[in-house]
Amino acid sequence: MDENLIELGKKNAAFRAVEENVKKNMILGIGSGSTVVYAVDAIAKIDKNNSLNLKCIPTSFQSRQLIVENGLTLVSLDQYPEIDLDIDGADEIDKSLNLIKGGGGCLVQEKIIASSSKKFVVIADYTKKSEYLGENWKKGVPIEVIPLAYVPIMKRLGKLGGKPILRMAQAKAGPVLSDNGNFIIDVDFGKIENPSDLNTKLLQIPGVVDSGLFVSMASKAYIGLKDGRVEILD
Ligand code: A5P
Repeated sequence: MDENLIELGKKNAAFRAVEENVKKNMILGIGSGSTVVYAVDAIAKIDKNNSLNLKCIPTSFQSRQLIVENGLTLVSLDQYPEIDLDIDGADEIDKSLNLIKGGGGCLVQEKIIASSSKKFVVIADYTKKSEYLGENWKKGVPIEVIPLAYVPIMKRLGKLGGKPILRMAQAKAGPVLSDNGNFIIDVDFGKIENPSDLNTKLLQIPGVVDSGLFVSMASKAYIGLKDGRVEILD
């Protein structure tokens, strides 16, 4: 895989999505991850000195920092519970615009913001597109869980046919803690033919806060291709 082409794909998708969707006076949801960095850059360029009066709601610690560092106006869901537009990345996008998200561990806040938005636009490079979820993204479906329940939850995930792994931290001994103080379990379910059914089963397990399956939530996806073009799926 050519890292330069992937970065170019992310940038082109992000800039195009911002250009086509961000309008004056909007309340924006700002996603998390490496592709969103380009989107925030594009938003900051068009909203210089707050000329467009945009207000931004973060989906993670990382996205809050991005908003602040780029001089955008940071607001909260308490103040603006109805968001005009949410722009976020994805780990995998299937042919029906269902998504796997949470590779960066931010799935819970990302899903809250996406579900509070009139329009949810996904930005990604060409490596993220698959026919079925689980085809290209091999790290599994991220699931955020209440720490004390992680062992029984791992057992139940196994019974659902998954291979669960507790996500471990890199520069610290022990598990990753989400922005909400919870654990993340990555579960390999192989090829996922019915994400809606799987998502329902996951959410029925006590102690599961949410899953990284975003089913029928995205209205559009901007995919940055290898040749510099941007494919739009809706
Ligand atoms: C964060 O938890 C994720 O949902 C990201 O949105 C997703 O992993 C995409 O990240 P990249 O843009 O870095 O691929």
